[in-house]
Amino acid sequence: MGKLSSRHLLGLENVPKEDISLILETSNSFREVLERQVKKVPTLRGITVLNLFYEPSTRTRISFELAEKRLSADTINFSTSTSSVKKGESLRDTVQNIEAMKIDMTVVRHSSSGAPYFLTQCMDSNIINAGDGAHEHPTQGLLDMYTIWKKYGKLDGLRVVLVGDIKHSRVIRSNIWGLKTMGASVALCGPSTLLPAEVEKFGCDVYTNLDEALDGADVVNVMRIQLERQQSGMFPSQREYTNLFGISKERLKLLNKNYTVMHPGPMNRGVEITSEVADSDNSVILDQVTNGQAVRMAVLYLLSGRKEDAE
Ligand code: CP
Repeated sequence: MGKLSSRHLLGLENVPKEDISLILETSNSFREVLERQVKKVPTLRGITVLNLFYEPSTRTRISFELAEKRLSADTINFSTSTSSVKKGESLRDTVQNIEAMKIDMTVVRHSSSGAPYFLTQCMDSNIINAGDGAHEHPTQGLLDMYTIWKKYGKLDGLRVVLVGDIKHSRVIRSNIWGLKTMGASVALCGPSTLLPAEVEKFGCDVYTNLDEALDGADVVNVMRIQLERQQSGMFPSQREYTNLFGISKERLKLLNKNYTVMHPGPMNRGVEITSEVADSDNSVILDQVTNGQAVRMAVLYLLSGRKEDAE
């Protein structure tokens, strides 16, 4: 088993192709563990992992916690609502006090972009970004790539369309950096009000017309539309968004024959995706969740520096 070039995972921007390939290949070994009757290996015995969630999460939080338990690590779950953050304790004081209890690895979700980087400056533990503001959500990007790679046997040369709020989506950013590094062709599609300034700097094809974006694509990855953006005038109405950017069965005829539909969750059924599409044979939405377990086991294992094999 090889070694990653960094002891933290803060994002996929500038992560070398060799590191991404190593994570995807290692994920395969752990994916096999998940099919066993006893879904547990001793790989991280003696390691303590802090799950530091300053924002709500269902999939990522449970997936990391299960990944840690299945690697035999000890886990600490922190949530703001039951902590002294409520009494005004700062992020730095919070993590330094918890780390004083001997923590080896920290998984962090925070509403502020850069919070995981900040933790690398005030903690000794390995830091894994579980989503920071509008910056990145690297393990979601990796599990999306793993899911595509597992189905097609490659990423290189595939056409992937990312639809939704390009301006605020951390999942889109991690997908862009990872997919481009691995040689996929990436297209972005969303309302012009939800495209960031200088969107061309991502080096992707950019569309405001969904039919044009989907034409000839292999994969469409649909992002949750943050309905609170409607209040801030980013799009006129939910119905208009659905008409222009919603993924329906009719629209999928534009994609290549063996197409794939993805969504990182949580979904607004009937808004950015119809239930018919979300629950169809070409949807891999629940596979993404299962694969996320294997990818997070791989990331935890590789960052820990442990030498044992996944077996
Ligand atoms: N995909 C994702 O990050 O979902 P959660 O917010 O439930 O973790």
